[in-house]
Amino acid sequence: MLILGIETSCDETSAAIVEETGDPARPWAIRSNVIASQAQIHREWGGVVPELASRQHIRDICGVVARALEEGRAAWGDLGAIAVTQGPGLVGSLLVGVSFAKAVAAVHALPLVAVHHLAGHIESLTLHNGELPLPAVVLVVSGGHTSLYLVERPGSYQILSRTRDDAAGEAYDKVAKLLGLGYPGGPIVDRLARTGNDRAIALPTTRLTHADRNAPELKGDLDFSFSGLKTAVLRHVRGRPALSEREVADVCATFQRIVVSTLVDRAFDAARRHHAKSIGVAGGVSANSRLRDDLKQHGDAREMPTFLPSVQLSTDNAAMIAAAGLRKFRAGLIAALDLNADASLAL
Ligand code: KG4
Ligand code: ZN
Repeated sequence: MLILGIETSCDETSAAIVEETGDPARPWAIRSNVIASQAQIHREWGGVVPELASRQHIRDICGVVARALEEGRAAWGDLGAIAVTQGPGLVGSLLVGVSFAKAVAAVHALPLVAVHHLAGHIESLTLHNGELPLPAVVLVVSGGHTSLYLVERPGSYQILSRTRDDAAGEAYDKVAKLLGLGYPGGPIVDRLARTGNDRAIALPTTRLTHADRNAPELKGDLDFSFSGLKTAVLRHVRGRPALSEREVADVCATFQRIVVSTLVDRAFDAARRHHAKSIGVAGGVSANSRLRDDLKQHGDAREMPTFLPSVQLSTDNAAMIAAAGLRKFRAGLIAALDLNADASLAL
């Protein structure tokens, strides 16, 4: 079966055709994955402007879907279902994808599947690597989220912890902004960090020990917090004249060492506690070069299999939404045509 996936939760308009392979170990194959990025538009403002994002999704969605069908050598009649990101995300952006998906599902009498954006990121791991050894601990680390999940069975996602304040990608973007490096900051900080000294300055590491009052059911000691680190970078930069290139690289390298070691340590802690057989890391920040290297090194040292999506499948894309949609479709989870976007949808 072929499925059309549609993703418009933030500033990427994306559509993809994903095919079932019939192989239970490697269940899905990508036929096409078209992404129209709005980065150029939002760069001028130093971050995503929601109203501009939804307007651009409206301009792009028809062309992006048409190209996904063409590159995927598929006609509407070849599809078995349509999957769309229902949330979380920017509500105006989500509404464009959800409305479009509902309309084409109605016109072509196709089943509609509502996908949680983070389920998409988690399933990008299976899409790229095949099924993970379960139970698996999966870290989703993006511009909007930093959360650890326990996957005991395919399609079941149990939250273990999350960030109490900024997401890791958000911290990257904010640090890049205060260093005057441009948007989106993650890839730029990543590149500059490679030339810097990662012990050059003193920045704090955060370890939380108490349960979050807003989520007492999570023990809290696997939670993340990045706003203190970001403020420490701000204080370091503020007190001095313009930083030299070398100093900027040192700040990037030190910041990156602390973020990456926090992410990797918590993921391995969670895996040990939950007797996981593998660790996956997905979401935009999983494109980070140091995170990719350190995860592999830690995994090799502890004989723990680790998995990442390809760099293209790390950041927002519709192929991962199509994959998560196939998982739900096969579990019989079909959405009604009165589906609504939900900006703060829970997983
Ligand atoms: O998953 P994603 O495309 O969108 C969200 O769902 O948020 O993630 C985007 C985030 C941005 O904050 C971006 O700066 C970050 O991922 N990012 C990176 C890298 N590439 C993208 N952060 C660190 N290093 C990278 N190489
Ligand atoms: Zn995302």
